[in-house]
Amino acid sequence: MALTKDTRLPLNDGNTIPILGLGTYASPDVPKSTGEEATKVAIELGYRHIDCAYIYGNEVQIGSAIRAKIADGTVKREDIFYTGKLWPTFFSPDLVRKGLEKSLSDVGLEYLDLFIMHWPFSLKHEGAEKPANSDKPFAYDDVDFCSTWEALEACKDAGLVKSIGVSNFNRRQLERLLNKQGLKYKPVCNQVECHIYLGQSKLQAYCKSKDIILVAYSVLGSHRDKDWVDLSLPVLLEDPILGEVAAKYNRTPAEVAMRFVLQKGIVVLAKSFSTARLKQNLGVFDFELKPEDMKTLESLDKNLHYGPFKEMKQHPEYPFDDEY
Ligand SMILES: NC(=O)c1ccc[n+]([C@@H]2O[C@H](COP(=O)([O-])OP(=O)(O)OC[C@H]3O[C@@H](n4cnc5c(N)ncnc54)[C@H](OP(=O)(O)O)[C@@H]3O)[C@@H](O)[C@H]2O)c1
Repeated sequence: MALTKDTRLPLNDGNTIPILGLGTYASPDVPKSTGEEATKVAIELGYRHIDCAYIYGNEVQIGSAIRAKIADGTVKREDIFYTGKLWPTFFSPDLVRKGLEKSLSDVGLEYLDLFIMHWPFSLKHEGAEKPANSDKPFAYDDVDFCSTWEALEACKDAGLVKSIGVSNFNRRQLERLLNKQGLKYKPVCNQVECHIYLGQSKLQAYCKSKDIILVAYSVLGSHRDKDWVDLSLPVLLEDPILGEVAAKYNRTPAEVAMRFVLQKGIVVLAKSFSTARLKQNLGVFDFELKPEDMKTLESLDKNLHYGPFKEMKQHPEYPFDDEY
């Protein structure tokens, strides 16, 4: 099947997800209005899937951009696929709906298309709206994500979200959720870091066997925000082999890095707040990588996490110590 910007993959609950999504995380020094303007431009260019989260602190602006593009007739609400994420300070079952309602009111939409648990571990709520942040140490909590999931199922039943899923879950955690007694809905997706240096092939195969879609973040090598990423790690888009493949197709390394993940049947999130790069990134639908070039790129896998989230390493549900 030829991929186009309008290609959507089926989800296990009967809904569909656009194969390319706009990432909206930016470091705190970037004015929130930049993301708002970029989201408007992206929708004008044809992006329909917007990935956001409570913790990004920009749902008001991203929501405002979406509503502006609905109001001016560029799109209808049903054309847009908006993902929100439940931050771990809201994992206690009595807080899940509150967390979702906060996102709904900030974004200004009546429902979210997809709502996912941001991480498998929980953090103490501390009775405040504001989550634990980098100037305060993370306060671990021990809410079982299976009980959080039941509250998410209730949100879907209430019509507040179309689909529910998870993010940053390893196989063991997915298995535990899938084997939960009385499971009503399976997660539709697992959103994880995935790129030429972190192929996630075992996790993808497992998810496929359970009809769960993989959604890839940091496909371009991440935002390289010094608060989250070790800046001594190699710059993905400067990889010489990636560069050689890109030159062969007369494409940019970014287009090839994205195309590689798309061709593996994985939904790609890519963040750009630049009009030129938003346009360039749609070029992924104008070419196809040959099997031998897919293989070459596959060989670059070195299990490298740009975002290992080491701050959480002591939490019993830290996901990245397992093989996958
Ligand atoms: N679930 C999770 O835990 C999680 C974690 C991380 C990210 N995410 C989601 O995934 C999204 C994407 O991941 P990410 O933000 O880590 O980064 P990414 O998409 O891998 O990379 C973003 C960086 O690449 C640059 N860029 C974009 N297009 C480019 C091009 N054609 N050529 C060169 N550079 C280009 C961007 O700069 P410009 O803006 O200047 O173009 C930005 O600095 C996030 O925004 C967020 O929505 C989720």
